[in-house]
Amino acid sequence: MVTAKSLYEKLKNVRVVNPICEFTEERCESLMPTIQRIEDLKKERNAIVLAHNYVAPEILYGVADYTGDSYGLAKAALKSDAEVIVFAAVDFMSQTAKILNPEKEVLNPNTNGGCSLAESVQAGDVVRLRQKYPDYTFVCYINTTAEVKAECDVCVTSSNVYKIIENIENDNIYFLPDRLMGENVKSYLDEKGIKKNLKVYDGVCYVHEEYQPESIDLIRTSHPGTEVLVHPECSPSVVQKADFIGSTSMMLNRVAESNAEKFFLLTECGLTDVLRAEHPEKVFVGSCILCRYMKSNSLNDVLRVLESPRSQDTVEIPSETIDRAKRCIDQMFHYAEK
Ligand code: 13P
Ligand code: SF4
Repeated sequence: MVTAKSLYEKLKNVRVVNPICEFTEERCESLMPTIQRIEDLKKERNAIVLAHNYVAPEILYGVADYTGDSYGLAKAALKSDAEVIVFAAVDFMSQTAKILNPEKEVLNPNTNGGCSLAESVQAGDVVRLRQKYPDYTFVCYINTTAEVKAECDVCVTSSNVYKIIENIENDNIYFLPDRLMGENVKSYLDEKGIKKNLKVYDGVCYVHEEYQPESIDLIRTSHPGTEVLVHPECSPSVVQKADFIGSTSMMLNRVAESNAEKFFLLTECGLTDVLRAEHPEKVFVGSCILCRYMKSNSLNDVLRVLESPRSQDTVEIPSETIDRAKRCIDQMFHYAEK
């Protein structure tokens, strides 16, 4: 059970840019009534809280039962025997939990849970593209709506995109919506001498597209020995300069295992917050960028959806869409786990 003291001990090294986010003992003490009420409601309602690595530390360390990247959280949602799932992340992630658990109540506490990638492509776009490219296998990033997944063949996440595309039998592949991730996959296949016709859609993550390779050069000059970790939603020019490329959870594991003392993470700020809490002895250099959608999650909204959910807080997807989208996600598990 979390106490004000244990929460403070965990979070005292987190230095979020905004000073109101500093975790003083007083602030941790003030969070305890909300945390306690959420814990009581979780027991009463047989509920679990899943939280993505980017959300606020008080959710991750205060009330979350599972934290992780989009793949790990999808698996946690699949395995859970709770009756209610509260998913602190963005809309497409809580939709994925609902697709995998149609009979359960899935609650989305985020009232601003968009994602620039998920919003960049609609189901109708995929239908039109499929008519244009009938011989192609359509691979969608998990950062898509349930309706888009329903029109695609295989889903991927940042932790398995390279492996899955490499292993799909068809050499004609259409990947959507992340153009930068698609270009990174192309470079990976070229480097391995694997010939595939990979067509790529034109969406981007507004957070990761901001990173430029020059910032890596600057950090390498000013802080020699820094290990550079990059999310595959960044541009190829950034990815090419990385020491490590991977999903958010893969980056967390990498820092835990690395002998380096200094790290530069090119991804959303939440990841560095987690690492400062986990590894107070390590140094994190460079700046980070906030995702306004992930940062719209709050402890109060987690409490609100457990206490008195409004109809819009409950994830509802038509059963026909669920069936078709589930096939696409099941294909991901098939390729990722083999
Ligand atoms: P991960 O699956 O790596 O956690 O990525 C999710 C995401 O939205 C990254 O911007
Ligand atoms: Fe979407 Fe980018 Fe935010 Fe991830 S960081 S949720 S890809 S907008």
